[in-house]
Amino acid sequence: MKKFFPVYVRVPLLFGLFFAIIEWLGGGTLSEPAFMKHPMLIVLFALFLFALIAVEVVSAATNKVLDRLMTSEERAEKERLAAIPFTESPWVKKLLKKLTRSKAIEEEKELLMEHDYDGIKELDNELPPWWVGLFYATIIFSVIYLLRYHVFEGDNQIVEFEKAMAEAKEQVEAYKKNAPDMLTAEQARYLTDAGDLAAGKQLFDTNCAVCHRTDGGGSIGPNLTDDHWILGGGVKNIFNTIAEGGRPGKGMVPWKTTFKPAEIEKLTSYVISLNGTTPVEPKAAEGDIVWSKAELEDAEGTDEMDADATEQE
Ligand code: HEC
Repeated sequence: MKKFFPVYVRVPLLFGLFFAIIEWLGGGTLSEPAFMKHPMLIVLFALFLFALIAVEVVSAATNKVLDRLMTSEERAEKERLAAIPFTESPWVKKLLKKLTRSKAIEEEKELLMEHDYDGIKELDNELPPWWVGLFYATIIFSVIYLLRYHVFEGDNQIVEFEKAMAEAKEQVEAYKKNAPDMLTAEQARYLTDAGDLAAGKQLFDTNCAVCHRTDGGGSIGPNLTDDHWILGGGVKNIFNTIAEGGRPGKGMVPWKTTFKPAEIEKLTSYVISLNGTTPVEPKAAEGDIVWSKAELEDAEGTDEMDADATEQE
């Protein structure tokens, strides 16, 4: 045995095994090993390593002494054993014999059964113990399985699946709460709440008024109060224009990196609320798409209706 596990394999292997078991018992993870949480474990590991090395040193010394005491025949026998390859070594042979209980070919006569079909004979071999062992193991497994899942109502696959799904759903909810919100143009609505519109106005006055004027009358950017739209009216189109910007080179940049979708929804609502108001110096109407807030109110804010009403092209 020693021959196949020399000291430089044996010691790290045993130490690694010990380390793994202790980490497992201590609930350590890759990012936070148990010995970081409980520094006493380092002492334990050091002691174990020390003991391992001590055992190796002592056994090496004893072997040396025993070697000296051997007679020349004993030494020859030892060398003979050392020269035998792994699969031929006595303990492997013994193990195989135990696992298979097979008879040597010379002993087959004892197993031969009486009958003979056209020269085909049968041997009454014993069932190999490894196979019988597995068979008993499956019986024990089935009893445990039966008790666990059918008597004590353990979670079956369906319950496990449902639990995992519920857990994942919770994680998604938690993610949505913390992550930048994921509102899209399709889901955005015309917010009529005074608080939302006030928030929209505030964002508009600080970011958009330079080009569209505070009252939406327009200067560099088009008039937002009339019923003519270059890029389309309605929640979906206006949301998209603000998020993605206007035609290239016109000056209306995409704002989606500046604002969260919920803020764009408020801006959209505020822009819509400007429709139909009378600015001080209105810019001439631009754009061929005609849409007014009234369409939204007719449809009572349903997204489908206002999307239909402003379909481009
Ligand atoms: C640098 C000037 C500038 C700023 C700042 C600006 N816009 Fe514009 N905006 C424009 C121009 C120019 C257009 C016309 C784009 C085109 O013709 O494609 C436009 C178009 C629009 C349209 C579409 C109008 C239509 O007729 O379809 C909306 C809605 C709009 N802007 C809203 C906003 C909002 C909300 C902000 C603030 C977050 C904003 N803009 C900031 C220049 C600007």
